Amino acid sequence: MRIDIITVLPELLESPFNHSILKRAQEKGLVEIHVHNLRDYSTDKRHRRVDDYAFGFSAGMVMQVEPIFRCIEQLKSERHYDEVIFTSPDGEQFSQPMANRLSMSGNLIILCGHYKGVDYRVREHLITKEISIGDYVLTGGELAAAVISDAIVRLIPGAIGDEQSALSDSFQDNLLAAPIYTRPAEFNGWKVPDILLSGHERKVAEWEHEQALERTRQLRPYLLDDEE
Ligand code: ADE
Repeated sequence: MRIDIITVLPELLESPFNHSILKRAQEKGLVEIHVHNLRDYSTDKRHRRVDDYAFGFSAGMVMQVEPIFRCIEQLKSERHYDEVIFTSPDGEQFSQPMANRLSMSGNLIILCGHYKGVDYRVREHLITKEISIGDYVLTGGELAAAVISDAIVRLIPGAIGDEQSALSDSFQDNLLAAPIYTRPAEFNGWKVPDILLSGHERKVAEWEHEQALERTRQLRPYLLDDEE
């Protein structure tokens, strides 16, 4: 898989991809992550500007269509992309099923939104999917792009050591994960539930399932109605 991220702040994306699972997945050749500075595609040779004032009466700067068009066309001339994603608070809500689907892609482009927004022609003609990571507004789409990429890459077979652990993540079966403990069995008078020390595999599995259901009922009841 290959992920191309287009941004005006490439420095913001250096750290998230250079540690732990995301770093290892790249070293193992499971994913290539390429960060492109949108300013390299500016038509303004002197100041490398990629934004301008909005038409009409709205305040704030808008990302211009031409640099984005040039960057995306360059990438598309080199390979096929399954999706051209735009990170935006008014996009479709990101979710585990969406991460699962996207993890099966070959190549993805993620355009990070910035300033007041992006010239709407980009969204009309170049973007195939708009994603929000939640109902709150970030200063830019970079952190959203990092969140989306992280959730996708860890699902690629081989990215995390124990394949089971991606399958038993919270949300993977529309349930939150059951509580988990490690040694010591008692600390400060706080005890690990007896059942987990019983060695009875079936009963432990039943307990974990009940706990997962109960936590989901309490914290994300709508997941229990979801078809997906
Ligand atoms: N850009 C700004 N806020 C965002 C959000 N909540 N999700 C995705 N991109 C964003």
